[in-house]
Amino acid sequence: MAARVIYPGTFDPITHGHSDLVQRAAALFEHVIVAIAANPPKAPTFALDERIEMARLALADIPGVEVCGFDKLLVDFAREREARVILRGLRAVSDFEYEFQLAGMNRRLASGIETLFLMPAEQYAYISSSLVREIAALGGDIAPFVHPRVMNALLARLRTGAGGNARKKDG
Ligand code: COA
Repeated sequence: MAARVIYPGTFDPITHGHSDLVQRAAALFEHVIVAIAANPPKAPTFALDERIEMARLALADIPGVEVCGFDKLLVDFAREREARVILRGLRAVSDFEYEFQLAGMNRRLASGIETLFLMPAEQYAYISSSLVREIAALGGDIAPFVHPRVMNALLARLRTGAGGNARKKDG
């Protein structure tokens, strides 16, 4: 049985939906590695170190969780960290096609690594980081979707108008 699982994503920013998944994983595995991808093609709003810090704050109360950044192939990072299971969330059928492709390609690249899917709680099934950013930018209330410190960071970013990529380079 695998003792550790790696949960990769962009986490721009981490939401309650992500945290819900981490909580579920922490109940199944001794060690959960939340692996935050630099992911320059996605042009994240927050720089990698900011996303790491926000995730650490949001997940501080869940035992057995480690947050780190990575800037390489996910399967190489998983091997490096000796994780044989990749965790991904499935919120709706619409996630399936992309996840199917990702899991298939990762299996092709590293046959010894399995992808495991968990579903977040129903109330988080429709959350995404970009929707949260859009709601905040348009003055909506994001308190139900993110940790208070993440909300403050997002509101501060909107006030200053600086993008993570514009201000700081990821990586
Ligand atoms: N709750 C809430 N939102 C969730 C969620 C959950 N449980 N699960 C996913 N999401 C949302 C995210 O907020 C994000 O929303 P957004 O697109 O609006 O920002 C979206 O679903 C998908 O994001 P995420 O789960 O972070 O995945 P991603 O698609 O950004 O990440 C990587 C993909 C990082 C795993 C992938 O690009 C990767 O492995 N990169 C490393 C390089 C590599 O190995 N590439 C080859 C892969 S074969």
